[in-house]
Amino acid sequence: MTYPRKIIIDTDPGQDDAVAILLALASPEEIDLLGITTVAGNVPLDLTTRNARMICELAGKHETRIFAGCDRPMNRTLVTAEYVHGKTGLDGPTLPDPTMPVQDQHAVDYIIDTLRAQPERTVTLCPLGPLTNVATALEKAPDIAARIQEIVLMGGAYFEVGNVTPAAEFNIYVDPHAADIVFRSGVPITVMPLDVTHKALVTKARNDAFRALNTRVGTAVAQMTDFFERFDIAKYGSEGAPLHDPCVIGYLLAPHLFSGRHVNVCIETQSELTLGMTVADWWGVTDRAPNATFMGDIDAEHFFNLLTERLGRL
Ligand code: RIB
Ligand code: CA
Repeated sequence: MTYPRKIIIDTDPGQDDAVAILLALASPEEIDLLGITTVAGNVPLDLTTRNARMICELAGKHETRIFAGCDRPMNRTLVTAEYVHGKTGLDGPTLPDPTMPVQDQHAVDYIIDTLRAQPERTVTLCPLGPLTNVATALEKAPDIAARIQEIVLMGGAYFEVGNVTPAAEFNIYVDPHAADIVFRSGVPITVMPLDVTHKALVTKARNDAFRALNTRVGTAVAQMTDFFERFDIAKYGSEGAPLHDPCVIGYLLAPHLFSGRHVNVCIETQSELTLGMTVADWWGVTDRAPNATFMGDIDAEHFFNLLTERLGRL
């Protein structure tokens, strides 16, 4: 992996999105964050966009360019997750109202223009929410598929099964048609599914380490986790909240902490029963060509050490 990696984070903050954005902003040697594009998902677009601004200001990175994107899935009604993330999507810490601007350009056009302007295969897209913006960009400008270096996304589930239905993970379920477009695009894809993120749990010791940073960022992250862990602990009896989205940035910083398989992944877009399921051919039982590196394991201890060290820089 050569550094710095030029990336666009596409996101629906969400506390775990927030930690991913903070991790990227804290790692300028490895990550050149070209821009943040927001999408409707955990909460509606106006809130995900507001939250993205608050997170960048929390990190003291007021110059970050933020672009608002699609406010609903391609052809389904929006499903949100206030029951996990709270009414604002960023419940937990009390953060000041944002003052930094949102760029005028639509996120989809920003993605297209950036990929056309940057040298081929030098920009990585990091979707952390429903894939509506990325799929819309691919549909509007098919030429960009050959210009994307890699898509590293949080979404899907196989052995871990779904978190919003018995079969589907939230990001894919909200916009399965968008996910289908992305997985059929031919772009190199690395997937951080629940199979991995449910092994990245914010235990009490790990959350205490965030708080022990004794900084505005460390305290805010600990408060975010205190809030959004309730849902997972109640549902799974787990020993803390799964830090889903930071796994995407963690992979860019330390790919050796992750392991998986290059397999075929198809998206269920028809059946109401399994809509949004990521059907991973883990054992190669079909003749469908592999199209994604589907992660299955993480060295969680070293991941949290890295995350805590980087958050301490902000
Ligand atoms: O299923 C987990 C995913 O859905 C995470 O990206 C979380 O932020 C929500 O968007
Ligand atoms: Ca998210």
